[in-house]
Amino acid sequence: MDSNKRPDNMVRITTKELADAFIEEQINAIREQVGDKKVLLALSGGVDSSVVAALLIKAIGKQLVCVHVNHGLMRKGESENVIEVFRNGLDANLVYVDATDRFLGKLENVSDPESKRKIIGAEFINVFDEEAAKLDGISFLAQGTIYPDILESIKQAEGKKAVKSHHNVGGLPDEMEMQLVEPIKLLFKDEVRVVGEALGLPHAMVYRQPFPGPGLGVRCLGAITRDRLEALREADAILREEFDINGLAEKVWQYFVVVPDMKSVGVKDDSRYEGWPAIIRAVNTTDAMTATIEEIPYSVLHKVTARITAEVNGINRVLYDITPKPTGTIEWE
Ligand code: XMP
Repeated sequence: MDSNKRPDNMVRITTKELADAFIEEQINAIREQVGDKKVLLALSGGVDSSVVAALLIKAIGKQLVCVHVNHGLMRKGESENVIEVFRNGLDANLVYVDATDRFLGKLENVSDPESKRKIIGAEFINVFDEEAAKLDGISFLAQGTIYPDILESIKQAEGKKAVKSHHNVGGLPDEMEMQLVEPIKLLFKDEVRVVGEALGLPHAMVYRQPFPGPGLGVRCLGAITRDRLEALREADAILREEFDINGLAEKVWQYFVVVPDMKSVGVKDDSRYEGWPAIIRAVNTTDAMTATIEEIPYSVLHKVTARITAEVNGINRVLYDITPKPTGTIEWE
């Protein structure tokens, strides 16, 4: 039987009981596959890699080595949260690498979106390879592959064209000579979430909105500078906070801030104040191929605007992008 094919009669995991049974079954399968060997996992903090990490920790404890690479393009507080949940909460064997300077150095003066993606993807592999080389006796590589990834690669193999190279920084090179451990590869995203909750991962982590592999790198438009990236990170954190407070986080599929490389004239404290605009994007979709615009109450938009312009250095305007996909893609790059 093709182990990459979801059996037609496989029950959808929709309840805690079904998730518990799946977890039990996978723990046995992982122990059988891995024995007393060590397993390496790139832990981004996204839903899929987090669920795989939690499953493996349950199955083999410290035989799992998680590597979290902070590429400097994470949202505010995300790397800290990974450390808190996995190292402090689950006592994981976690290697944390702050590679911010390396990534931002490589990205300096690079403005083409696809070049930025390629640099981020390649540098991720470099950093991960270097960390893997420092570790002894690793025999397996765990990955958070899920069923839509398998379906997507089948589509690509059939020659269907993509608008963007959706490089996921979690994707690792084929040439790594390790056997794969992919415990959630037959699950759909909603099932992964049910399993994540059954494993006791925090709700916010399990229901985290999708975040592109290149992170804030494709939202800090054009050539990335540290000051504009910082402004984007702060503005994005305010948007997320206000969406949480106003009950929009559960209603909107993806919401974030984009900061373009342009300035306009504004006024602050009676003086001319040139700043970047923060562009809000908030979309709903089922498969990310098309997307609709969520109607955000004006009261929320006002509050977000007031907070961003008051609290974030360098931003003097807030814009709301109401373009559906098509014609706009969800991300601006
Ligand atoms: P677009 O911009 O193509 O985005 O409408 C569709 C979905 O894919 C995400 N996205 C990415 N994900 N690497 C990723 O892992 C990428 O380079 C990338 N670019 C876009 C985007 O956030 C949206 O959910």
